[in-house]
Amino acid sequence: MGAELQDFDFVIVGATGDLALRKLIKALYYRCRDGQLAGNGRILGASRAELDRDGYIALIEEAAEKHIPAEHRRPEDWSRFLARIDYMTMDAFDCASYGELVKRLSEFPGRVRVFYLSTGSKLFAPICRCLHELDLITPQSRVVLEKPVGHDLESAHEINQQVLACFDEAQVFRIDHYLGKEPVQNLMVLRFGNTMFESLWHQTYIDHIQITVAESLGVESRAAFYDHTGALRDMVQSHLLQLLCIIAMEPPPSIDPNVVRDEKLKVIRALRPIAGRDVDNYVVRGQYQAGAVDGKPVPAYVRESGVEAQSKTETFVALKTYIDNWRWAKVPFYLRTGKRLAKQVSEIVVQFKDVPHSIFGEAELPANRLTIRLQPSEEIGLLLSGKRVGTGMDVRDLELHLDADQRGIDHVPDAYERLLIDAIEGRATLFVRRDELEAAWGWIEPITERWRKQGGRPESYVASTWGPTAAASLLARDNREWDVGSD
Ligand code: BG6
Repeated sequence: MGAELQDFDFVIVGATGDLALRKLIKALYYRCRDGQLAGNGRILGASRAELDRDGYIALIEEAAEKHIPAEHRRPEDWSRFLARIDYMTMDAFDCASYGELVKRLSEFPGRVRVFYLSTGSKLFAPICRCLHELDLITPQSRVVLEKPVGHDLESAHEINQQVLACFDEAQVFRIDHYLGKEPVQNLMVLRFGNTMFESLWHQTYIDHIQITVAESLGVESRAAFYDHTGALRDMVQSHLLQLLCIIAMEPPPSIDPNVVRDEKLKVIRALRPIAGRDVDNYVVRGQYQAGAVDGKPVPAYVRESGVEAQSKTETFVALKTYIDNWRWAKVPFYLRTGKRLAKQVSEIVVQFKDVPHSIFGEAELPANRLTIRLQPSEEIGLLLSGKRVGTGMDVRDLELHLDADQRGIDHVPDAYERLLIDAIEGRATLFVRRDELEAAWGWIEPITERWRKQGGRPESYVASTWGPTAAASLLARDNREWDVGSD
């Protein structure tokens, strides 16, 4: 960091929502505690809820009890943080209700202003219009848009148009919190901070890549959103494609936002489209049925509260795709995500090719494998062959751990912590640019289109398993198996 911290007003629209209370406030607290927020920075919560400041602070206290360990909240740190917070009631659609916000912001016209829209994307355009009409958008302002932006290419395009009628693209920070995760950052440093990985990072040496984001939770309290979204739009269009971009992009000449995003965009543009019958062959969709988690019964997706009884929404997707360029020719990328799977685990596996020839007789030499694990723990492991100590030439698997050094840190910053600081300081590298976002929607669209035309149902899987059997077959057909969930 080093540079002088800038004073700011951080406005959270949708301040009483789950994301704000569970993630954003917590992230701002830790950064405040660790001295990364300028002393005069304010956090202004806004939502429709009729609350006063004390009422809002009470909600924050309640959420903190659940999500921030007591030993991390020393009274002096916590009260210093709460002193920054204020709250105002306003209706996103009604510009006349923004009076208190106008008053508060006009106290410091020169400050950095971050408008974090922690709302559904249908509200983005109306909010931006009000901010614009009320003259609240200064050159030092930025707007942060939560994902998903839109529901398909057309709606994403429309929202972008309307937001960009009020803000410049350089002021728009579309967040994808997977880009703020520590191992994803570390992957960039491993790739571009070492000569050895980059020189092996292509189809000559890499057999295939897997990306798994498996959740053990079900749809929880988000049925209203999830049931008309599904796993492909909720997870693949954003998080999984962004991870794929970081793995597959060419080395950018610098970390400059547009330079990095140009490279990511090239990856999405080179993704082989999956359309028509290919969707049936290369994409598996599933929906969870009743099962048990830790011995306790859990309902089928269609029995979850708020989900339509006949819902065809997919809670699981697995797919196989290719990147049609020189670096990745013929290297399959297998992507998989789902809810109510057997374990909470997210990882990227870069599987290298087999050793071309063994000089060690019968000894099995494992192919090298780089595993970037995002959850439940954050770690990077490299599987190599090594020698067993002794007189013979016994070969054994050797797992090297390449994690970031966490000694002396009582808390590894969560993805939102890094991204919120970046938004305040105006660093856009880890945020998604409009063209990238629209290209990702464009790639997804033939898949949703095929499903819509076919009208079939997702395949069933029992809750707490690894998804439909077809997901395993997708790899078995290529004589491969998923790294997690195949044992
Ligand atoms: C969100 C999705 O973007 O990411 C959720 O909308 C999902 O459905 C969540 O549960 C997963 O995030 P994380 O950081 O817990 O893996």
